[in-house]
Amino acid sequence: MSDSDEGYSLLSAKSRLLDVFADLDDLELESIERWISSLSYKKDLEIKKSLINSDKLLKNIGDSIKKMIPFEAEMSTENIIPPSVGDQADCNKDNTCHVDEFLYDEKQVAELVKRGKLKRQYCLDCSSRNVQDLIFISHSLSRQALQYIFKVLLPNELEDKQILDIGSRLGSVLYAAYHLSNASRIVGIEMNKECCEVQEKIIGQYSMDLDRISVVNSDVLERHDIVECSDIIIMNVLDFFVDEEKHREMWYFFKKHFKKGSYLILNRTIAETLGCLGLFEEFMDWLSICKPNQMENEVFFDVEDYSELYLYSIN
Ligand SMILES: C[S@@+](CC[C@H](N)C(=O)[O-])C[C@H]1O[C@@H](n2cnc3c(N)ncnc32)[C@H](O)[C@@H]1O
Repeated sequence: MSDSDEGYSLLSAKSRLLDVFADLDDLELESIERWISSLSYKKDLEIKKSLINSDKLLKNIGDSIKKMIPFEAEMSTENIIPPSVGDQADCNKDNTCHVDEFLYDEKQVAELVKRGKLKRQYCLDCSSRNVQDLIFISHSLSRQALQYIFKVLLPNELEDKQILDIGSRLGSVLYAAYHLSNASRIVGIEMNKECCEVQEKIIGQYSMDLDRISVVNSDVLERHDIVECSDIIIMNVLDFFVDEEKHREMWYFFKKHFKKGSYLILNRTIAETLGCLGLFEEFMDWLSICKPNQMENEVFFDVEDYSELYLYSIN
């Protein structure tokens, strides 16, 4: 980098900082000044840099997965059906488009739209500008949501703990757990064989330690042995994959087999999840909502974006 380039980037950084500072009142500014001259600022900066690095790693994994699966990120062997109850019951094949958030972040989606590979709208009457925004859904959690789970919601110390992802699909939760936590065991259970093959290829391609991470091709209902010894269970909504009856069956199974004291992370409140299945009252005392364990790391996230991740403990 030349002297003049360096001068320019420094000037631009100062200008961006001034934009931020200009929005603060005197008290806020004083607090920022104290933070910058303290040791905790250096520590925060280190964490921020390590989050950027792990994000790059997860992005590389996502790019490898894109080469293995169809653009729509849904397998030919899957039977994915819009749900008839719950907050996604308005989805149907015409108004809904699946864009996998682990594979495509907002910037990448904007790029796909620009290149015409993805549309944001659909035509209501096939002839005019009378268009409607498509509902974008994702079957995977985004990289940012995964970082929030491991760096804010869960405890930092997970040695000797087993993490289970119910319905591990492309493996996003497993790779994030591998790189963002020190959990001793990370297990994914996924009923679709093609999805399991993708996860196994990625685990091999990135030389992950097979004593630490594994994928099991099964219906979770067949594997109470794994469920019973898991300390942290993560479940991204299954609405598109199981019907109401199976959903109810699964929750009775979870109630019977989740270990007391284990954590459950959901991306929808338990009241909404069980309410639409008519089970909430019956399950109300089974779990309690918990505060994030690493609140000090919220500074690295735009918390409003993650208000839809919930941490529960099993009573
Ligand atoms: C919404 S995706 C979640 C993907 C991943 N956990 C994530 O958050 O990125 C749900 C996955 O659960 C799987 N699934 C649904 N019911 C299941 C069951 N009973 N046993 C195992 N896998 C199941 C589906 O095949 C699908 O791949």
